[in-house]
Amino acid sequence: MLFDELRREPVGSSALATELAGWRTFGKRTVYSTTAASGVAGRVVADTFTNEFWSSAQRQGHGLHEVSYRACFKPELPGFFIARLTKPGDVVYDPFMGRGTTLLEAALRGRVPFGNDVSPLSAMLLRPRLSPPRQADVESRLASLDLQVCDDVRDDLLAFYHRDTLREIGALRRYLLTRERSGEIDAVDDWIRMVAVNRLTGHSPGFLSVYTMPPNQAVSVVSQLRINEKRNQTPPRRDLCAVVARKSKQLIAAVSDADRASLAAVAARAVLSTAPAGATPALPDASVDLVVTSPPFLDVVQYKDDNWLRCWFCGIDADAVQITMARTVDAWAVTMRGAFDELRRVVKTGGHVAFEVGEVRRGSVRLEEVVLPVAVAAGFSPELVMIHAQKFTKTANCWGIDNNDKGTNTQRVVVLRRA
Ligand SMILES: C[S@@+](CC[C@H](N)C(=O)[O-])C[C@H]1O[C@@H](n2cnc3c(N)ncnc32)[C@H](O)[C@@H]1O
Repeated sequence: MLFDELRREPVGSSALATELAGWRTFGKRTVYSTTAASGVAGRVVADTFTNEFWSSAQRQGHGLHEVSYRACFKPELPGFFIARLTKPGDVVYDPFMGRGTTLLEAALRGRVPFGNDVSPLSAMLLRPRLSPPRQADVESRLASLDLQVCDDVRDDLLAFYHRDTLREIGALRRYLLTRERSGEIDAVDDWIRMVAVNRLTGHSPGFLSVYTMPPNQAVSVVSQLRINEKRNQTPPRRDLCAVVARKSKQLIAAVSDADRASLAAVAARAVLSTAPAGATPALPDASVDLVVTSPPFLDVVQYKDDNWLRCWFCGIDADAVQITMARTVDAWAVTMRGAFDELRRVVKTGGHVAFEVGEVRRGSVRLEEVVLPVAVAAGFSPELVMIHAQKFTKTANCWGIDNNDKGTNTQRVVVLRRA
């Protein structure tokens, strides 16, 4: 059903709705429909626009985003809303920030980033990229470290690493934890930790491990032993400093002087919080102009399992991180209601929320229909639902978020306004 075949106007009249209705950037017309849902606040209907709204090509965003994280979205998604719904100097917030895609994109565009995630890993992944060091400083710090001695090598990790590589990983881990506990950790250490975390495991010589799953999904030791047996492989020697320096160079090379100036203008005002999205006291009342976020989609992604090795390296007790893993839609809605009540406190009157949910359980659960009434009950007005549909990608499939049967996958963004 094409928008103009329907011969009806969307009820919303915002500039965003008008732009989405006329969108032709990738040659296709926008399909118009409505999303209707009922909740405690009654029946909610939202104009819904389906099209390809950003490029399906990989790695089109800024190179500084190129650190892996499970179920991260492409920078084009937050960029789309930041460009249209904020101006430089405004505050952009993500209560479920993951690797911090929304916040880095906001900062690169001169907006002040506020971020939160229940996992401390998130701030460790984002903070260093808001103030990237110079490559020479990274290399000279790496050269100054003594990574030859480590007295507490974890033998089970020999499933992933050559013994000499593991010794270096253990020594770097010990150095960073000691610096952190003594309060001496600085921006260069912070950067090295972020890069090392991203090199822990992967499937090419650019990573510290033997061949394994992609870097955002660490498998268990038992699974890795199975992979090694099946592939008849043993962990090769990797030089930790060389691997970290190479990835660091790739990230830093993407940062222009203009980027550094944009980041420097806002980094000092950044707020990075580690808390459940429903209780974020570090964030001031009525401080946020725009929220762009994607929460965990029910229990589709096992963040704890995927991040266990990263957490170990950073000294985080993964068992103590209270990640939302909702088995039912009702349980998920309760957590989202808590998150929206808190958003109502922190978002300015007239501010926007762009809340992205993927397709789960092969499209049988439409989380946008859950989000709409929950958000309205919390005091937000529905503006529209935007469905970005693009050709199926491998990455989307490995999140378990796809409608592979149709050869497309969608991202569904509920756009709301703080009434
Ligand atoms: C879909 S990921 C977000 C990815 C992010 N958009 C990005 O591009 O990296 C969802 C995130 O929510 C976090 N999370 C899970 N439960 C949470 C909760 N109750 N409060 C805050 N964060 C939570 C997870 O740790 C995970 O990083």
